[in-house]
Amino acid sequence: MTASKKLFVRTFGCQMNVYDSGRMIDVLSARGYEPTETPEDADLVILNTCHIREKAAEKVFSEIGRIRALKDEREARGQPTMIGVAGCVAQAEGEEIVRRAPVVDLVVGPQAYHRLPDLIDKAARGEKAVDTDFPPEDKFTRMPAASEKRVRSGGATAFLAVQEGCDKFCTFCVVPYTRGAEASRPAGALVEEARRLVDRGVREITLLGQNVNAYHGEGLDGREWSLARLLFELTEIEGLDRLRYTTSHPRDMDDDLIAAHRDLDRLMPYLHLPVQSGSDRMLAAMNRRHTRDTYLDIISRIREARPDIAISGDFIVGFPGETEADFEDTLDLVRRVGYAHAFSFKYSPRPGTPAAEMDGHVPEAVKTERLQRLQAVLADGQRRFNEGLVGMTLPVLFEKPGRREGQLIGRSPYLVPVHAEVPAAMMGAITEVAIESAGQNSVGGRLAVPTLHATSATLAEAPL
Ligand code: SAH
Ligand code: SF4
Ligand code: F3S
Repeated sequence: MTASKKLFVRTFGCQMNVYDSGRMIDVLSARGYEPTETPEDADLVILNTCHIREKAAEKVFSEIGRIRALKDEREARGQPTMIGVAGCVAQAEGEEIVRRAPVVDLVVGPQAYHRLPDLIDKAARGEKAVDTDFPPEDKFTRMPAASEKRVRSGGATAFLAVQEGCDKFCTFCVVPYTRGAEASRPAGALVEEARRLVDRGVREITLLGQNVNAYHGEGLDGREWSLARLLFELTEIEGLDRLRYTTSHPRDMDDDLIAAHRDLDRLMPYLHLPVQSGSDRMLAAMNRRHTRDTYLDIISRIREARPDIAISGDFIVGFPGETEADFEDTLDLVRRVGYAHAFSFKYSPRPGTPAAEMDGHVPEAVKTERLQRLQAVLADGQRRFNEGLVGMTLPVLFEKPGRREGQLIGRSPYLVPVHAEVPAAMMGAITEVAIESAGQNSVGGRLAVPTLHATSATLAEAPL
């Protein structure tokens, strides 16, 4: 492998895939590949795919078609080009991908990314390289640490995978099959990775896991640590101003984690807690293993611990057997909780999952109509949440240029994007912003403290 090879990774799906794409870049940087922003000049294109809904999975094949055209053009110019498929479609379909799209040279599942260099060697010899094993070794310890260059270009926020996989087996979901059994990384490795991120300018870390609050890794004291314990440890890291975690399951929302929202200033007042449905009948059929009342009880306990917390959620409409009455229970739950943000989806039958085989599939038109009604209620709640921020002064972490000249966009503690006219030097800094206006998806404000001569090092940074 020469040092001049270029790598392009296109990421679909969830934040875990975003994190994994970064780690694949690290693995391949150590092998002389340099990341590029355009597939046209890439010697290796990796599609990091998502299998969660049918549409997501189908996207992959149209994308392979596009990359194939690029490959043909490049190869006509004498530039060999390799195409790899990674992620959850790779895991779910394996060999089938190269059968359906013979232009694909390698297929690698999420648990085998540390083996990428070997797979590339194999593909370079002209063999199809497919690895969808769940190897016993820990891939994280076998992958190099994030390269300094990549972390620097990532700015002030970063993801850190603490847990992967899922043992919950919700009847609609492919994740337990594509990501495998739940596994937690040891706290020592996580503290070290977090420190490295902070050394390189990261101020806010989001801990990731398919079931992040099921975290049960080996602690620094050799005992098993919960997510709450891990969060307490991470807040000891100087310069790490903000922590978040996602995605949680209601079953694992234990008292310690709720208390962490009361006790840790650096833990941001935001909780993504998917519920999927407000109907007990649907929750049972989905195998969510909790009721609507337990969910509502968690919400009230977390609000007691942290009254200003922003709640976000995921919803599925049109699960098999869902009646109008079940759906109205969902609307009612949404109104009761008052979500700051949410994702909502039409149920999509996934091969190999129990729900796909159930009776009572809901017609597409009904799903569409329910989704529209649900989204109207959610949008209303979101706008109201944003309007409630007007008049407050919030610490904002500025992370990217705004649409207008002189404007930056930052993250409020509630994750609502904030637009403000601020000096470009404030990128990566946390500063107080007085919120003056609210829109559907963001709010606007102005600096609450005069900062004409401020630099990112001298800005006042009020902890929450
Ligand atoms: N681990 C998380 C979510 C993982 S998938 C959890 O337990 O909630 C992200 C979201 O996709 C889910 O919350 C669900 O709302 C949605 N989803 C998963 N499978 C789906 C399917 N078959 N059809 C439609 N939406 C689905
Ligand atoms: Fe899927 Fe359920 Fe696991 Fe979430 S908890 S990843 S929805 S099986
Ligand atoms: Fe998709 Fe896999 Fe994430 S199916 S949502 S990329 S865990």
